[in-house]
Amino acid sequence: MCGIVGYTGKRNVIDVLMTGLVSLEYRGYDSAGIAINNDGEIKVYKAIGKLGNLKTLLEEKKSEITNVKSGIGHIRWATHGGATEFNAHPHTCTCGKLVVVHNGIIENFKELKEVLTKEGCVFRSQTDTETIAHLFAREYGKTHNLKEAVKNGLKELKGAYAICVMHKDEPDTIVATRKNAPLLIGLGEGENFIASDIPAFIEYTKKAIYLDDGDIAVVKADGLEFYNEKDEKITKKIEQLPWEPVALSKMGYKHFMLKEIHEQPDVIRNVLNGKLFDIDEPIVLNEVQIDNETLKKLNRIEIIACGTSLHAAMVGKYIIEDFTGIAVDVEPSSEYIYRKTVTNEKTLVIGVSQSGETADTITAIRQAKEKGAHVLIITNRPDSSMARYADSLIPVSAGIEISVAATKSYTAQLLSFYLLAIKMAEIKNSMPKEYLKTLKHELIQVPVKLEEILNNKEEIKKCARKFANYKNFIFIARGINLATALEGALKLKEISYINATGYAAGELKHGPIAMLDETMPVLSILIPGGITYDKILSNSEEAKARNARLIALTSSEDEHLYDIFENVIKIPPIPEILSPITANVPCQLLAYYISEFLGKDVDQPRNLAKSVTVE
Ligand code: M6R
Repeated sequence: MCGIVGYTGKRNVIDVLMTGLVSLEYRGYDSAGIAINNDGEIKVYKAIGKLGNLKTLLEEKKSEITNVKSGIGHIRWATHGGATEFNAHPHTCTCGKLVVVHNGIIENFKELKEVLTKEGCVFRSQTDTETIAHLFAREYGKTHNLKEAVKNGLKELKGAYAICVMHKDEPDTIVATRKNAPLLIGLGEGENFIASDIPAFIEYTKKAIYLDDGDIAVVKADGLEFYNEKDEKITKKIEQLPWEPVALSKMGYKHFMLKEIHEQPDVIRNVLNGKLFDIDEPIVLNEVQIDNETLKKLNRIEIIACGTSLHAAMVGKYIIEDFTGIAVDVEPSSEYIYRKTVTNEKTLVIGVSQSGETADTITAIRQAKEKGAHVLIITNRPDSSMARYADSLIPVSAGIEISVAATKSYTAQLLSFYLLAIKMAEIKNSMPKEYLKTLKHELIQVPVKLEEILNNKEEIKKCARKFANYKNFIFIARGINLATALEGALKLKEISYINATGYAAGELKHGPIAMLDETMPVLSILIPGGITYDKILSNSEEAKARNARLIALTSSEDEHLYDIFENVIKIPPIPEILSPITANVPCQLLAYYISEFLGKDVDQPRNLAKSVTVE
């Protein structure tokens, strides 16, 4: 969603802000802007659409930009008010001396706007953010100190926010604060950076300080001060960021999505590293605080997540129930938070999130914690807000994922669930040791199987070319791969805008079969050796009888499949219980190539954001 960058120091401020914004582009946005303190005067430049438009504007205005020491920038994903220049950030107060950028939502902005309008403030946009500028400006008028103005203004704000503020009379100062939205400071020599996410300054520094809720940072080129919610001056821990700038490059791939799909074999090796040493040894999950006593006490497990993470959760449910016999419920976070759940101290609540910043899941986790549940977080961002609520943590170690469509992070989440389920079974002694050993052995083989899929993409490309112009698409599966069908459909929908849906194959005849004719491709996920193969084959035959265009995704060697299916996409043999890891990869590639053939914006699909920080 929205992204913030701020800089004060000796470099070309506009260059630093623009590079920072470019590296946050992957979050999804529809307008952008920057504000600079130019020789003691605040100047604001905004443009709708991609950053290229803002760049062009800055080129045109070059002659009026003379001496800049500090600036703030923002990319906006519209919530309050459309994607217009007026609504784009930064926003100024009525006289234009104070300027803010903001991520999050101010819940009481309407009430505040009414009061501030009566006080004489002139509003120019439909945003909630503009209220902050007027409010802080009013407070600045009382103290003539930006930090004090922010401290006093915050007392009236309700909602979630990461905010950066500048005032014309404090040319080298940016004040930053946050509540329920991420914000961090990057430390340099004679310069400092502010951003809502690491990529915005990783090419300049790897030293950073994370702000906590309620913190206020006073950021100058040659100094930093931090205050907590009680206005006490505090010292914050400096973290060494684990990322290399190279992680943000496409490394020769046409899109980040394609690069990230190809990284999956190594991602799996990474996830297994340090957790699965040997098939004879128990799984090691250092930050999971669950012992036999905790497991005995549990009466149920609830897994909450959104989107792709929700599909990983469905696989998690299947294997945890299978391996431990503990009842598991899976629910979208956005539903969980609006009902009276039966959650208590005997419940283990697992939150799954790539970004660790998804607002619905954070709220759900908070509610579960308040009810006394043990909270386990599975996330790709151990530095995220969600990780801070964790009693137990599994960092999924997928590396930064830039493409909005989640690919490698899903695979890493799946792996994390397999490791967790095996570990629980080991603690509970609920599965035969030999079976668990076989599973561990198979898990170690998975990266090579993925490499095999990635080296044989011709049939997938052929399918993509053939079906790219179809308007609808159905994925069917049963059992553990129902999640794969749903995820395959979600991926296709997200990046190609084709109306793709996933169904439990047995459900086809209860309604969706009415849609089948020669204009409907149906992709069946068929894993032999398991309990679902024959039934899915029958369901596919039923679809063929209605003239649907059939595609098989299978590890079967049965030549008869070619009599039923127009296209057969092969994956290497694998036990059905582990097949969601391999079966998903061809679905990712199919979605990718279809989107590519259609000329869509693969990495930044319309209307979508990488981390969804509003409920
Ligand atoms: O960061 P999270 O895993 O919590 O995000 C949840 C969803 O927003 C996310 O999975 C979304 O569905 C992606 N666009 C999937 O490709």
